[in-house]
Amino acid sequence: MKRPLIAPSILSADFAKLADEIAAVENAGADLLHLDVMDGSFVPNLTFGPLIVEAVNRITDLTLDVHLMIDAPEKFILDFKEAGADWITFHYEATTNHAYIIELIKNLGLKAGISLKPRTPVRVLSKIAGMLDLALIMTVEPGFGGQGFLPGSTEKIRDMVKMRESVKSDFLISIDGGVKIDNCAQVIEAGADILVTGSAVFKHDNPGFVIKSLKNAGIEP
Ligand code: DX5
Ligand code: ZN
Repeated sequence: MKRPLIAPSILSADFAKLADEIAAVENAGADLLHLDVMDGSFVPNLTFGPLIVEAVNRITDLTLDVHLMIDAPEKFILDFKEAGADWITFHYEATTNHAYIIELIKNLGLKAGISLKPRTPVRVLSKIAGMLDLALIMTVEPGFGGQGFLPGSTEKIRDMVKMRESVKSDFLISIDGGVKIDNCAQVIEAGADILVTGSAVFKHDNPGFVIKSLKNAGIEP
């Protein structure tokens, strides 16, 4: 199995010590920083917007992987670009203008991703999969950190790998929600390229140990 990229989600970080928390995961070998933007409408929780993304961008060199859990994502793409986002992922269920929004993101020079809620099947992407840089599979209901990995998600990762083959694309497959040291081998084996992980990393005394363990899961010693 290959080594996945690790994208710690700051949703589970201590926001009173955000700079220290981000420095710790950056020094421990995180590959990306995952930023969960929630609007209290698309999901039943509120987090932050471009203001915090801009502040985070000033204190890290990590690639900023912005996950928009918001309605009408097209309204805010430019704001997040100006705040320093490198990758922008929006939800399939939040809009009907998928191709338009992917183009909007890519025309700004950013990587474009689409995320699927647990009950949205991979087949909905058939017409747009070829345009994507990233497909993000939610393995919990979006809205909160610290939930359990949903059974059946591993099969969905395999479906996404098949979709990627069928459209002859090379988009990355990212897994978000409930990923831990003891369940990550199955998602890597199924084809996940990126593991988003919030509570497993930030609620642990030693985030570096968790990041290294996730990276090395399934690699023969
Ligand atoms: C949930 C977010 C996730 C969340 C993952 O809606 O998209 O990125 O932070 O947190 P854990 O790893 O705790 O499930
Ligand atoms: Zn996320």
